Amino acid sequence: MRVFVAGATGAIGRRLVPPLVERGHDVVATTSRPEKVDALRALGARPVVLDGLDGVAVGEAVARAEPDAIVHQMTALAGKPDLRRFDRWFADTNELRTKGTEHLLAAARAAGVGRLVAQSYTGWTNARSGGPVKTEADAFDARPARAQRESLAAIHFLEDAVTGAPLEGIALRFGNFYGPGASESLVELVRKRQFPVIGDGGGVWSWIHLDDAAAATVAALERGRSGVYNVVDDEPAPVTEWLPYLAQVVGAKPPRRVPAWLGRLAAGEVAVQWMTEGRGASNEKAKRELDWQPAWSSWRGGFRDGLGEPAPRRGERAGP
Ligand SMILES: NC(=O)c1ccc[n+]([C@@H]2O[C@H](COP(=O)([O-])OP(=O)(O)OC[C@H]3O[C@@H](n4cnc5c(N)ncnc54)[C@H](OP(=O)(O)O)[C@@H]3O)[C@@H](O)[C@H]2O)c1
Repeated sequence: MRVFVAGATGAIGRRLVPPLVERGHDVVATTSRPEKVDALRALGARPVVLDGLDGVAVGEAVARAEPDAIVHQMTALAGKPDLRRFDRWFADTNELRTKGTEHLLAAARAAGVGRLVAQSYTGWTNARSGGPVKTEADAFDARPARAQRESLAAIHFLEDAVTGAPLEGIALRFGNFYGPGASESLVELVRKRQFPVIGDGGGVWSWIHLDDAAAATVAALERGRSGVYNVVDDEPAPVTEWLPYLAQVVGAKPPRRVPAWLGRLAAGEVAVQWMTEGRGASNEKAKRELDWQPAWSSWRGGFRDGLGEPAPRRGERAGP
């Protein structure tokens, strides 16, 4: 298959291109920064410089590539997190999820592309009521924190647009990423004891290793049917379980505990809701329909052994 990967230099894109190439796919990979084209070429892809918000350029690039499938992995989350002004922090990502998705879908339609797989998310998006683990059929949060309304609406938009389009349209709801390029800032905060358990820490989180998210994307490209899939590991867990464990395996002191009122004052409503009322996700549908399962089935093994690049095997050299 010829696959057009929009956003190939990010945490997920970098780990998606190599398995696609290994499986014999012809990969056209985009970045908005000319200085990154060599890195994409080194991964085995044909690089294209593209601003995902420029509809005309997206149309031209897709038409020129003539792909069988498009993958949308464009986000703009590399900056400093700001949970208090969540929608401001996510503003560019929200544009990539709304206008960026529309541009790719229009380009796909014009070029006769049969399949589009887009990145969505599961976590703070979930209704904060009912059981601790949600399926794809469960509702989004009907009352998101004020600071997150635009970001939730953008995810809603992306999923509706992709799954309602006249092609095989798939939205993969990734859990919280960890792995090389995804968890360094979290680990640093944990090491500095600046990532406390807030309130009762009963909020449930679902995690996914980047390589498992990449493998699910390959599976969705090769076998997925229109719809939404949760792509998470097998063990949704409350903050009181995963956070002290993460601190332990990275050699940090146990996380501090702060009451909800103090957490609200220091980090805002989003942080408190996430830590006390968050809901996890079930991966049953993805396992069943995509014939995929996470190699890192639990964040326990993943946090212990999968945060960094794997050690080179005997006989393999570490670098060039
Ligand atoms: N589910 C999750 O937990 C989740 C999901 C997404 C991200 N994150 C986290 O957020 C952090 C940053 O993510 P990231 O490393 O993937 O970086 P990022 O800044 O979010 O970029 C992702 C991709 O989007 C591309 N992009 C950004 N703006 C674009 C534009 N206007 N037009 C075209 N492409 C554009 C980037 O390409 P160029 O910069 O090369 O143009 C890159 O390939 C990481 O820690 C990651 O783990 C987490």
